[in-house]
Amino acid sequence: MPSFTFTLNGKGTTVDAHAGMPLLWVLRDTLGLTGTKFGCGKGLCGSCTVHIDGEAARSCITPIENVTGASVLTIEGLSLNRIHPVQRAWIQDEVPQCGYCQSGQIMTAVALLKKHPKPTDAEIDESMGNNLCRCGTYQRIRRAIHRASAEGGVR
Ligand code: FES
Ligand code: FES
Repeated sequence: MPSFTFTLNGKGTTVDAHAGMPLLWVLRDTLGLTGTKFGCGKGLCGSCTVHIDGEAARSCITPIENVTGASVLTIEGLSLNRIHPVQRAWIQDEVPQCGYCQSGQIMTAVALLKKHPKPTDAEIDESMGNNLCRCGTYQRIRRAIHRASAEGGVR
């Protein structure tokens, strides 16, 4: 089985895997990072969102071979002790209901705020619109993004 080397949450990582294995399975099954969730497996729901070289990406449809040499950030690497401004806003606004979609929501929100530190509602809807939440937490997500934006400091 081939080996693939990439940076994961700031640390060099090498895994043995089939080239076409989705990054999501490598994260969850090989590396034990289960914060990133499986929803649809088809790139449609956003629950598996991570950052690859700073961009939000769907790990369920990203073959591990495509991240060779790249930098991958998962929810586990976002901050120590949930102190990232977006995580703090999520907690203050009590965004999650069941929580299943929320790591993907947070990773997408962080990518949005890096591009648009003061996003409009339209920019939020455009960036977050393909991250589905079966619990319908969309209004709280929007509020928390505005809170994180107002409090600043998104890295
Ligand atoms: S599990 Fe990846 S987009 Fe749904
Ligand atoms: S909080 Fe339950 S699916 Fe989003």
